[in-house]
Amino acid sequence: MDSKTAKMKTGRKAEPAFIETAVDFIRTYADRCHHGKEEDILFRELKKKTISQEHQKIMEELIEEHRNARKVTGKLVEANQRYVAGDSKALEDILQCMQTLVDFYPRHIEKEDKHFFIPVMKYFSKDEQDAMLKEGYEFDQGLIHEKYRQVVEKGERNR
Ligand SMILES: [Fe+2]
Ligand SMILES: [Fe+2]
Repeated sequence: MDSKTAKMKTGRKAEPAFIETAVDFIRTYADRCHHGKEEDILFRELKKKTISQEHQKIMEELIEEHRNARKVTGKLVEANQRYVAGDSKALEDILQCMQTLVDFYPRHIEKEDKHFFIPVMKYFSKDEQDAMLKEGYEFDQGLIHEKYRQVVEKGERNR
């Protein structure tokens, strides 16, 4: 996404098909599959525990960052549609959204990997950790079915 953004910027031309692929990756993999496991399993379990103020603060930031990434991705989809419809002014919005996401994700991932996921494991027993891991695997198993059920349902609605 980083190099494509740079290319779109210098070429003054968007690549709608690439943007669609990137949006699908972000929505399905990063947001539903990955943030989903964080929010629906790990954070849910952490909310039952008494955690330090620092960890509480980071968790709230992470949730807010997920929310923000969803908003920017939505804006990107909307700008891409305008671009495809012939609105040349949409290019600036596309570039801005792409750049925001490119800057955002590595920082977000570093915060989680280096400052959150490992330290918060201390709040859980080995059994609790194993149970979350198992739930994570089950979550992943259901995902492909969820994704394509949605594709079919959307197709049937638009028939
Ligand atoms: Fe996250
Ligand atoms: Fe993450």
